[in-house]
Amino acid sequence: MSDNETNHKATNALWGGRFGQGPAEIMAQINASISFDQRLYRQDIAGSKAHCAMLVASDILSKEDGQAIDSGLDQILGEFERGEITLDPALEDIHMHVETRLRELIGDAAGRLHTARSRNDQVATDFRLWTRDAIDQIDAGLTAFQNTLLDQAEAHADAIMPGFTHLQSAQPVTVGHHLLAYVEMARRDQSRFADCRTRLNESPLGAAALAGTSFPIDRHATASALGFDAPMANSMDAVSSRDFVAEFLSCCAIAAMHLSRFSEELVVWSSAQFGFISLSDSFSTGSSIMPQKRNPDAAELVRAKVGRIIGSLNTMLIVLKGLPLAYSKDMQEDKEPAFDAFDSLQLGLSAITGMVGDMAFNTERLHDAASSGFSTATDIADWLVRVADIPFRNAHHITGTLVKMAEDQGCMLHELSLADMQGVEPQITADIYDVLSVENSVASRSSFGGTAPSGVRASIAAHRERLS
Ligand code: ARG
Repeated sequence: MSDNETNHKATNALWGGRFGQGPAEIMAQINASISFDQRLYRQDIAGSKAHCAMLVASDILSKEDGQAIDSGLDQILGEFERGEITLDPALEDIHMHVETRLRELIGDAAGRLHTARSRNDQVATDFRLWTRDAIDQIDAGLTAFQNTLLDQAEAHADAIMPGFTHLQSAQPVTVGHHLLAYVEMARRDQSRFADCRTRLNESPLGAAALAGTSFPIDRHATASALGFDAPMANSMDAVSSRDFVAEFLSCCAIAAMHLSRFSEELVVWSSAQFGFISLSDSFSTGSSIMPQKRNPDAAELVRAKVGRIIGSLNTMLIVLKGLPLAYSKDMQEDKEPAFDAFDSLQLGLSAITGMVGDMAFNTERLHDAASSGFSTATDIADWLVRVADIPFRNAHHITGTLVKMAEDQGCMLHELSLADMQGVEPQITADIYDVLSVENSVASRSSFGGTAPSGVRASIAAHRERLS
């Protein structure tokens, strides 16, 4: 690019007073954030309206100018909603787009809106408002996800499936119990987001560039008008802290990690080898070459989304880690990771909620799988402890011998003869057969938080109550 091309640009109308020439093309490109921060137009306008009302109430701005600004802002909001605003990278960001449009609409009075304010406190305010809205939307998504899990858990409170440790059959569990584990995770995710919301809900507005302002502003008024609990107590912190973004992103990362684990199970369960579930046509795809295939693409994509969400958290922490106080332009890089993580999480939540709502459990196959692999061996050991008063370690050993015997005979535990079992441990009676069925095994696990259908139903009721 020749000097001529670089130089002919006009200086910036909003901050270019001390500049002889405009920015180089590349400077304008790296500087502009409007391509993504246009997403903050609602929050930006809400912040400006609150600021304007406060300036009028504090006698810093005349009533007439205040009214002109306020109705101009309303009109601009409508224009944004209707997609009528033309975005211009030369205007850098959302704040300058709104102010420039306001000047077109109401003239010079528009320039009074920026009294006692800076883009630094403005953007921090906008982004806190946006993150708060995002949390509310995620919260609703997590509620829908839990309700769908609860419906399936209720329908399958008695259905038996293998419970795994090390992905090896461990003990039989109920399908309802397995699903409720994810309800617990989603409940904690909600509470993590709620904590984050509480901590971020303080207003930076009025911190101005970094040091506060000499105008007699009322930061408490703008804070409460915008639904914040209080104004932030330190103006330098107010404009430069983004730990709320990092915290939001870590909540997103943890929630997405949970969805990813569940998705992994859906992928495994829907395979021909497991055959535990079938995903509906609406959440499966075919192969262009292998006609027999039904692929769980949605589950795979939810499993993968966590990658970019964790990436966003990393990005944010790395951007922040070396920044001196107060505001630096580095902070403009906070938005895209947060937007992307939010979009990915919301999409993932909707997809997994859809999949769970539609999926069918192959209960016969689950029951068979639960009965294989000597899954009631622990029940034998427990029986020997309870009925024959044998110490658990010895009972464990005896049971191991019975498992080996069944393995050698190529049968299941309940198919061993009483005589054979008594040959290993004479105190065994025919009563032991009662604990060998998977139904009795799960029903007996009625300790608090255990897998018994009775416990599952009680837990479902408690969750329904919480979510209602
Ligand atoms: N677009 C900027 C951002 O997102 C707004 C704040 C600009 N402040 C400044 N001093 N240049 O951070």
